[in-house]
Amino acid sequence: MLRAVLAVLSLPLLASAQAPFLPTFQSTLSNLGFGRFADAIKNLSTTSTGSELLASLGSSLPYTVYVPVNEAWDSIGNVDLAKVLAYHISPSSINTTDIAPPRRHTIAYTELRQDQALPGRQPQVLVLETSPVNDTRVLIRGADWNTTSRGNGTAYGNIWLQPIDRVLSPPLPLLDVLRHPLDSSAVNGTTAALALINNVGLQDTFTGCKGCTFFIPNDAALAGINFDALVSSQRANVLLGHVINGDVRYSTELDAGDTWISAAGQTVAYGVNATGAFITSGGAIARIVRSDILCTNGVVHLVNRVIGGPIGNPDRAASALTAASVLAATQTTADGIIGRIPTSIPISPTSSTPPGSSQSRASARRRISSGFWMRWLHIA
Ligand SMILES: *[C@@H]1O[C@H](CO)[C@@H](O)[C@H](O)[C@H]1NC(C)=O
Ligand SMILES: *[C@@H]1O[C@H](CO)[C@@H](O)[C@H](O)[C@H]1NC(C)=O
Ligand SMILES: *[C@@H]1O[C@H](CO)[C@@H](O)[C@H](O)[C@H]1NC(C)=O
Ligand SMILES: *[C@@H]1O[C@H](CO)[C@@H](O)[C@H](O)[C@H]1NC(C)=O
Ligand SMILES: *[C@@H]1O[C@H](CO)[C@@H](O)[C@H](O)[C@H]1NC(C)=O
Ligand SMILES: *[C@@H]1O[C@H](CO)[C@@H](O)[C@H](O)[C@H]1NC(C)=O
Ligand SMILES: *[C@@H]1O[C@H](CO)[C@@H](O)[C@H](O)[C@H]1NC(C)=O
Repeated sequence: MLRAVLAVLSLPLLASAQAPFLPTFQSTLSNLGFGRFADAIKNLSTTSTGSELLASLGSSLPYTVYVPVNEAWDSIGNVDLAKVLAYHISPSSINTTDIAPPRRHTIAYTELRQDQALPGRQPQVLVLETSPVNDTRVLIRGADWNTTSRGNGTAYGNIWLQPIDRVLSPPLPLLDVLRHPLDSSAVNGTTAALALINNVGLQDTFTGCKGCTFFIPNDAALAGINFDALVSSQRANVLLGHVINGDVRYSTELDAGDTWISAAGQTVAYGVNATGAFITSGGAIARIVRSDILCTNGVVHLVNRVIGGPIGNPDRAASALTAASVLAATQTTADGIIGRIPTSIPISPTSSTPPGSSQSRASARRRISSGFWMRWLHIA
């Protein structure tokens, strides 16, 4: 008898403990004053990628969701909602105090895996820094836009909700990014670099490269070079000498002393001192004037000099790409293991649970949340 009563009593309890995530999440967002975001989430739930994404949010893994305030949605045209919302969700809990100080960067992974443009299943990232005018606020940096947080975040179970003042735009294709104002030294984009890319016909190479780091020279850097003296293949080598093929290095992943083989087959070295961050190749030194400008297939760091030279080494470039691709494949094996973890951060040993189980997913995500954004480069 007692058992029967208990069984009946436990039914509603059980039901409320396992209340469907979505309606509760939506009404919480509405109650917090984010009705437009709640609508967007509702729309998203009707698509298959959307419902998958929402199912992960409803798990117990840590997430940070950047929530655009209501008025931010007014200026939004026709957007791919699944893509845009996935870019607002990071599989980690990011508190304001975790974020790099002004002019330094914190890189956070998102749930957006854009058109398979990056190696493996590497997702697009967010570039975060603390606002220079108000250190309680977070600045999210796009190629030619910024957004700041609005007020303090709120915890909703495993989800940290941080209001922001605009709807974020996922990274654009490289050549579009280079047409935007990027810096005081590239107010109309990098027009000279774009002209050179067109001149030697490297548009497809640059946009087709899967996961690249582009050290793009600004106009002043290219103004001093006499390209008339070079044949087309030599001009191409000069450009390719600024590209690391198959390896996406955000500023947080650059360490003094790092060297790579460029897409022209030349050695590129990275260094940092009190003046800033530098790359050297072929005896030339360039300073990075702006880092972490995101594009669909990688990241751009704007530089103030041309490095490398007209002589390429295609065999060396090809074997560097092969090595980078092999490494990229091992870095993105199981679901949830997304990108490189800096070796200087102690990582607790992973459990012996087989890959793909929720335990190993949780531990991969924790490793990312506790390790990834604690480093930053001394440039912005
Ligand atoms: C969600 O769908 C409703 C109804 O179709 C529409 O009015 C609204 O603009 C959509 N919201 C977003 C953010 O797409
Ligand atoms: C962020 O920090 C605040 C204040 O220290 C705390 O209340 C909140 O729980 C923290 N959130 C997360 C996601 O760690
Ligand atoms: C974004 O913020 C950075 C850092 O404060 C600033 O240098 C830059 O000019 C801002 N860009 C825009 C488009 O507001
Ligand atoms: C800084 O941000 C907080 C929280 O958003 C806000 O209350 C405060 O007025 C801001 N202060 C300044 C000087 O902008
Ligand atoms: C945000 O949190 C900080 C530190 O916990 C607090 O001093 C500040 O008053 C809060 N601001 C708002 C707008 O709630
Ligand atoms: C940028 O473009 C505008 C409009 O075409 C032009 O007036 C300006 O001179 C350009 N600035 C630079 C530095 O090239
Ligand atoms: C930093 O390195 C650059 C490039 O090697 C050099 O020009 C500059 O003088 C160095 N600055 C300091 C403070 O050492």
